[in-house]
Amino acid sequence: MTSEQVGGVWPLIAADNLEPTGALMGIDWLSGGAFYADPIGWTLSGVPGVTNPNVMIFGAPGQGKSGTVKLFCLRMMAFGYRTLILGDVKDEYEPLCRLLGLEPFAIGHGLPARINPLDFGPLGEGWRWLPARQAKHRAAIVFGRWLLLIRGLVGSQHVPFSPSDETVIATVLRELTGYGSGASELREVTVPQVWGALDEPAEALVRECRYQNRRHFLDATRAVRDALGALVKGHLAGLFDERTTVDIDWKAPIQSLSLSRLEALGDEAVGVALTCLNSWGRGMTQVAEPGDLRIVVRDEAWKQMRLGVDAVKSLDADLRLSRRDGCVQIVAAHKPSDMLTVGDDGSQAVAIAKDLLHLCATKVLLGQDEKVGAELSAMLGLQPMTGHVVTGWATAAKGRALWLVGNRAFKVQTICLPGFDDAVLDTNSALVAS
Ligand SMILES: Nc1ncnc2c1ncn2[C@@H]1O[C@H](COP(=O)(O)OP(=O)(O)O)[C@@H](O)[C@H]1O
Ligand SMILES: [Mg+2]
Repeated sequence: MTSEQVGGVWPLIAADNLEPTGALMGIDWLSGGAFYADPIGWTLSGVPGVTNPNVMIFGAPGQGKSGTVKLFCLRMMAFGYRTLILGDVKDEYEPLCRLLGLEPFAIGHGLPARINPLDFGPLGEGWRWLPARQAKHRAAIVFGRWLLLIRGLVGSQHVPFSPSDETVIATVLRELTGYGSGASELREVTVPQVWGALDEPAEALVRECRYQNRRHFLDATRAVRDALGALVKGHLAGLFDERTTVDIDWKAPIQSLSLSRLEALGDEAVGVALTCLNSWGRGMTQVAEPGDLRIVVRDEAWKQMRLGVDAVKSLDADLRLSRRDGCVQIVAAHKPSDMLTVGDDGSQAVAIAKDLLHLCATKVLLGQDEKVGAELSAMLGLQPMTGHVVTGWATAAKGRALWLVGNRAFKVQTICLPGFDDAVLDTNSALVAS
């Protein structure tokens, strides 16, 4: 062979390291040097194969996925990156938030925090002082986001959302906010108000949406109305049906919403909460100014993806936009097949979920057993030698991973600094104490 082919045959030969920019993660095991992670830097400086700043992390439970993410976020803060934890389903980001002086918000029955999915979110900030044109622009973004959200919420109850339903919901939202009647300042709406407008439709609404009469309207919108009703009267009542009571500082170094209290209500409740938060997260990146760098973390991403095709599409859209928004999207999951449970084999949802993998130029593969290792190797086209790193070397210690950065592979041990980082990382303390 020629020297050009050597790298293909022996993929794990120590070569020139990546530039020492970004978060110092730990040791590059092949060269013995330091390993720095800088997804946006890699994208901008044209590291071969790094076409976007997204990161996908796979690893067996307990191998250190969340730990790696936390250390990365913490160390990127020194460079001005802000972190948004889009739903902390195990409350494991709470110590990190507290370390940074922020109290995370917890959502659950009996807790005071309420999230209004139809909140203006960060886009509502300073609305009153916006010039008319900019307010109009923001309104268009907000309405688009709300529609997408309601589509997702309705879809999560396994109810299809037709173009006629969309017309109805858009009309209702315009009326309720006052946008339809040209109000300069919009009113905040809640899901019960939308549901109420569908349940007791005004004559004007029936006419505007071209239904023959009230009866026709009620029959045609029944499925959507009942799906939204689950948020108003069903087991999710009291969580997402009032105005937002928490005051989120969108400019803080980290923001996180703890969702572990929802666990008892089932995956659907967690999924709905994640859908609402996702919508907020999107709003947040939309107001980001140039140079405003963000890390958006979706730990246990499959919980949201399982809600159905709309949830998968929404994640897909976020990953595609990250390059433009200056945002590092991190998705963590146990194994690729978790992502594929979104639908039947060959369905649209599965096809999109498979593509998600390719929308993340950087993959971090922590230790896995042989079966999942084989699955990963097949999906990512790993050579046997590289695959063995995942099923062998990486399983021997927490935080060890094969980092696939574009076309290159690195064996990296993420280092946790004793006395400082371990307080942030310790998710095992609950087990040890009991
Ligand atoms: N780089 C690391 N070095 C040492 N210990 C780590 C490291 N990363 C994680 N851990 C420890 O491993 C345990 C499990 O890690 P965690 O990140 O919660 O795993 P996962 O998210 O993959 O389930 C935690 O108690 C954490 O303290
Ligand atoms: Mg975890």
